[in-house]
Amino acid sequence: MSSAATKFTQMEQKLQTLSLGTLCKSIAICGLVLFLFYTFLFGNLPYNESLHLFMPFGNQWSPSSANVTDNLPTNVSHIRFVIAGSVRTWLHRRPYVEAWWRENMTRGNLWLEFPPPKEFLPWPSSSPPFRVHEDVRKIYIHSRFVDEVQIRMYRSILETFRLGDNKDVRWYVMADDDTLVFVDNLVEVLGKYDHTKYYYIGTNSECIGSNAIFSFNMGYGGAGYALSYALVEALVSKMHDCIRRYQHLFLSDYISHSCLADLGVDLTIEKGYHQVIIALTKRF
Ligand SMILES: *[C@@H]1O[C@H](CO)[C@@H](O)[C@H](O)[C@H]1NC(C)=O
Ligand SMILES: *[C@@H]1O[C@H](CO)[C@@H](O)[C@H](O)[C@H]1NC(C)=O
Ligand SMILES: *[C@@H]1O[C@H](CO)[C@@H](O)[C@H](O)[C@H]1NC(C)=O
Repeated sequence: MSSAATKFTQMEQKLQTLSLGTLCKSIAICGLVLFLFYTFLFGNLPYNESLHLFMPFGNQWSPSSANVTDNLPTNVSHIRFVIAGSVRTWLHRRPYVEAWWRENMTRGNLWLEFPPPKEFLPWPSSSPPFRVHEDVRKIYIHSRFVDEVQIRMYRSILETFRLGDNKDVRWYVMADDDTLVFVDNLVEVLGKYDHTKYYYIGTNSECIGSNAIFSFNMGYGGAGYALSYALVEALVSKMHDCIRRYQHLFLSDYISHSCLADLGVDLTIEKGYHQVIIALTKRF
């Protein structure tokens, strides 16, 4: 081997050792810098709050103004029913609702797209009092919704909350106008949960196709689902932004599920809710 070649080999070995050493040092320095950066940014915050910075809407167990001093058992008066209806379907849906609605006992509203025509008036006291939705086209002038009806239905939560009269409300129960509610069973189930925490209680569909299209982790309005007071209180302030963010979705329950997911709230499954979609069952 010539001396030049020997020298070259020696140099190459040196370089290899050097680069390995440099690499190790670089990694160590990078690690240190990252550590210092993290400590500087989050070091003064308690663990909870540093976690907070990574969550868009904060810690899901944040306290709410719900009345925690009232430890009495949950009863029917603590539930506010939010029933998605339509003037077009009311003639045939009224018997479903009246089968479970208890006059002067159950609280809540049937939500309609426009005031009921003469044929439905005077509005019977055996039906839930109706409310008419705000016009979503006037509220979201720059948004193009796949299905305005779904946005309107989803906003029932917001509009219900805004009615005020939220005193003593522990649960908002979303239902359709063809949902059959077993009121006493529902009271018993909800009584197990703490309404001052974030809860989204329902079940997925018994039709596999629906779950596949939307989510296996979503509550369906057909079966009904419940939102705790604390959750609704947190949700309403985010709802405008959320509706804009999910304007491409075409089912109010799916928008609801997405907005709740953004709040870090997962569905709590209760097997007592049942959702069957006949049309979809036929299709799949
Ligand atoms: C909580 O409930 C108690 C007893 O029902 C009542 O006196 C108090 O005003 C309530 N507080 C709030 C903030 O609603
Ligand atoms: C439900 O409980 C509240 C107290 O939390 C009470 O004021 C109300 O009268 C009860 N309603 C019924 C129907 O028992
Ligand atoms: C409901 O309340 C109204 C007004 O207080 C009363 O006239 C009506 O008889 C009540 N209905 C039932 C079923 O108790």
